[in-house]
Amino acid sequence: MISTPSACIVAEKEKVAKVVLMPGDPLRAKYIAEKYLENPELFNTVRNMYGYTGTYKGKRISVMGSGMGIPSMTLYAHELYNFFDVDSIIRVGSAGALRDDMKVRDVVIAMSASTNSKFDVQYGFPGTLAPTADFDLLNDAVSVCKEREASVKVGNVFTTDVFYNADSNIPSLCRDLGMLCVEMETAGIYWEAVASHKKALSILSISDHMFRHEELTALERQESFDEMIEIALETAWR
Ligand code: ADE
Repeated sequence: MISTPSACIVAEKEKVAKVVLMPGDPLRAKYIAEKYLENPELFNTVRNMYGYTGTYKGKRISVMGSGMGIPSMTLYAHELYNFFDVDSIIRVGSAGALRDDMKVRDVVIAMSASTNSKFDVQYGFPGTLAPTADFDLLNDAVSVCKEREASVKVGNVFTTDVFYNADSNIPSLCRDLGMLCVEMETAGIYWEAVASHKKALSILSISDHMFRHEELTALERQESFDEMIEIALETAWR
């Protein structure tokens, strides 16, 4: 067993694949592993942040929960990139739609992420370090969507540090500035990837609308989640 200095992932290094899909919820990681991976093997149980590795169409792929928000996502991503030699992380999460022409179940690929987070101050860059997707992963994901004739929007998203925001004007401002949706992790994973000299992409499924009351049935939620997972797995497989 090769030991690693990682604090929150306790596993043998070789148990983790080079590419990792990360939903926020560890039970979603379990669901993805059991539904889509052949011979899934559990590699992490610390804090119940389940991580599995199996194969998809013959390629080794891991899937692990990230938790919610930039601190949790970046902690796990940092360990995966730096202590487990992971090359690529694909976030598979949910988001609240901002635009009028968007609805629940839409899929969004985050080209970039605007944010109110100050996580990047640690890097000492005298300006704004723009959180952007890895172009190759983005390009592959868009190709997968075209081949599947899946309707998808690609653009800037808003990564917020605050779910229950006291300032109710923020969503309108974000919409006015062209952002597609609100979520809580993408800027973090994009910064962490750049700082670790690795790759990241965030694919999001719209679970709610910031200006309209729209609800999904449990079945619809599952189906739109599955669509996003299939796009992410096909992207990871390339
Ligand atoms: N994730 C899903 N919906 C969200 C919302 N409305 N705000 C922040 N993150 C979200």
